[in-house]
Amino acid sequence: MLNKKVKSIILAAGKGTRMKSELPKVLHCIFNKPLLGYVLDAVNNTGYINENFVIVGHEAELVEKYVKENYESAKCVLQSPQLGTGDAVNKAAPYLKDFDGYVIVVCGDTPIITSDTLKSFTDFHDNNAADLTVMSAIFENPKNYGRIIRDKNKKFTAIVEEKDATPEQKAVKEVNAGIYCINWKTVSNAFNSLKNNNAQGEYYLTDIVKWAVENNLNVQSYILDDNEEIFGINSKLQLAQATKIINRKSLIRLMDEGVQITDPETTYISPETTIGADTLILPNVYITGKNIIGSKCKIGPFSHIRDGAKIGNNVRIGNFVEIKKSEIKDNTNVSHLSYIGDAELGSKVNIGAGTITANYNPISKVKSKTIIKDGANTGSNSVLVAPVTVNEMASVGAGSIITKDVEAYSLAITRSPMKIFSGWVKKKIEELSGGNK
Ligand code: UD1
Ligand code: CA
Repeated sequence: MLNKKVKSIILAAGKGTRMKSELPKVLHCIFNKPLLGYVLDAVNNTGYINENFVIVGHEAELVEKYVKENYESAKCVLQSPQLGTGDAVNKAAPYLKDFDGYVIVVCGDTPIITSDTLKSFTDFHDNNAADLTVMSAIFENPKNYGRIIRDKNKKFTAIVEEKDATPEQKAVKEVNAGIYCINWKTVSNAFNSLKNNNAQGEYYLTDIVKWAVENNLNVQSYILDDNEEIFGINSKLQLAQATKIINRKSLIRLMDEGVQITDPETTYISPETTIGADTLILPNVYITGKNIIGSKCKIGPFSHIRDGAKIGNNVRIGNFVEIKKSEIKDNTNVSHLSYIGDAELGSKVNIGAGTITANYNPISKVKSKTIIKDGANTGSNSVLVAPVTVNEMASVGAGSIITKDVEAYSLAITRSPMKIFSGWVKKKIEELSGGNK
């Protein structure tokens, strides 16, 4: 238990010019989830926080829409124009007037930060009864980061931005990670004294360190273990690099839990997917969104699971199969070339190659469900036009288009009867060669 309540401020007003995109930077996605979502989840999963303030500015309406639809705990606060990180945090001040607790400040473009780190960072602040704690990191090449400045006695006294730093200060390898824990009651006065007489003409959040030191407050730094966690995204290249990092961590977690992954280099699995032990993931599998996959399954090569899959044990998802928002029970096979969307498949179902659940009506824009019950099977190249149910042990003949429910234990087939024209080819050949004589 902490001594005080905790709220968070997420800085997300910046334009993200280097993304060269119409979309605001923090709404760019990794595994279908916006960068801002990763940060809000990490903050909220500490279990410490009951309210978030998201500072929005560039394309504020879009960011606000995402936050409103996904995070009840979060309130968006407009910062316009964007006058710097100090000004950004100060925009939340009216909502924190009498707040006697801690405020965690995080940037909205650092999706790799974990709730474990934020938790131990907050614990550290609390245990030290600090007024201000800054997360720092040691970088061999600290380019672009603010430097942590210490006095002769190693006491942390200020942060200097690279653009304002002397050559001596630039040589410092300890940098500001951009994550802060602020004892609001004792430090919030700092925001009214910030000046913008610096290289960028901005109100720097980092200047609160100097203010707190001058006011004899307890200022601490917390050194981060894993520098990757504060990897910030400013470009599409960094977005791809962060995707790789998040994926690598996700695959390591899964392998630690007993999942067999043949080729981590070509396998992508979202961090919000859980997979049971002894499931085998073959190369070129892409699993995004939130999914639950059981144990002893075999997935891939070349399978795509798109979100909302709930897959039981000993299920086979084969090559060129796409699964979306579907439940698949134990011992069922979807082995080749199929699309299973908005469906419920029972156990011991066998889906023939090329079976498609036609779940979407592009005119009404309505999506409907396909239900295939225990032991049923579909022949190759069948189309199940939803809403439709194939009952227990029923069989759908190859090449059928199923538009009505199929009774249990019965065969449904829409194929036109096969005809044989005996000797037809021979006759054609003779006709052709006869013409040449
Ligand atoms: C900031 C720190 C720097 C630190 C680095 C870590 C300051 C002055 N500097 O620098 O010491 O090493 O982060 O990544 O704080 N933002 C707003 N409103 C604004 C300005 C920025 O919301 O008016 C948001 C941006 O969208 C971004 C975050 O604040 O998410 C950081 O801003 P940015 O300009 O990128 O700061 P840095 O130069 O990286
Ligand atoms: Ca930055």
